[in-house]
Amino acid sequence: MSNFHANLALTKTVLNHITDSYLPAVFASSLAAEDMVLTDLILKGQLPISIFTLDTGRLHTETLEMVARIRETYGADISVYAPSAESVSAYIRQHGMNGFYDSVDARKECCRIRKVLPLQRALTGSKAWITGQRRLQAATRAELAVQEFDTAHGIAKFNPLADWSAEDIWQYLRTNSVPYNPLHDHGYPSIGCEPCTRAIQPGESIRAGRWWWEEPGTKECGLHLVDGKLVRTRHMKQL
Ligand code: ADX
Ligand code: SF4
Repeated sequence: MSNFHANLALTKTVLNHITDSYLPAVFASSLAAEDMVLTDLILKGQLPISIFTLDTGRLHTETLEMVARIRETYGADISVYAPSAESVSAYIRQHGMNGFYDSVDARKECCRIRKVLPLQRALTGSKAWITGQRRLQAATRAELAVQEFDTAHGIAKFNPLADWSAEDIWQYLRTNSVPYNPLHDHGYPSIGCEPCTRAIQPGESIRAGRWWWEEPGTKECGLHLVDGKLVRTRHMKQL
């Protein structure tokens, strides 16, 4: 039986808890389906949570176009953070434009420059950040808590969709006519950078198309890692 209504109620409670006790708070949106659920809840609910995306410079056009679709739908602008041009040039000089295919280390360095360092800038001054991660997305997320303490950035971190299934996400998006990245209709359940994401085949896991040339255990970009490890330090208390 679907827990859709219970999951939605908990997510709203978590968002209210954040606006009661954790402002200023920011929401990190990859512009994918999960993040459009949170975008809709935040913008339609007029919650005082600002939304940003990390434009790595290697996103699909379809993904980048979501920024304009959000503006058209909600009349709201989201902040866009870019990597440092100097760091990107240095990476390309050392590893080549697509050096991330050569080794896990070169891939992680690209993610560090294009995502992790801009994330640090985006979180500066906030008491909490919010993500669209779900437990069912990956083995690395099976233990995901709704509330954590992000020791890397020294602020609270919330995953208000931790309990949601993919079906819940799509039920919400369809019921509320929320715009979504058209790549989801073409075999992309999980969308990252264009050169590091491909469509999955029937029966493959939802993150099989992300960094498909790597082993499953390394497939995290570093946004949710501390010193290379997943750190889960604090679970949400009774709300
Ligand atoms: S990733 O770590 O493998 O890239 P995934 O694509 O599953 O992550 O997204 C998980 C969550 O990380 C998203 O819900 C979002 O909160 C955050 N995130 C991932 N990519 C970005 C991005 N480019 N900009 C902002 N937030 C992002
Ligand atoms: Fe670089 Fe690929 Fe990571 Fe994007 S996902 S930052 S292109 S290695």
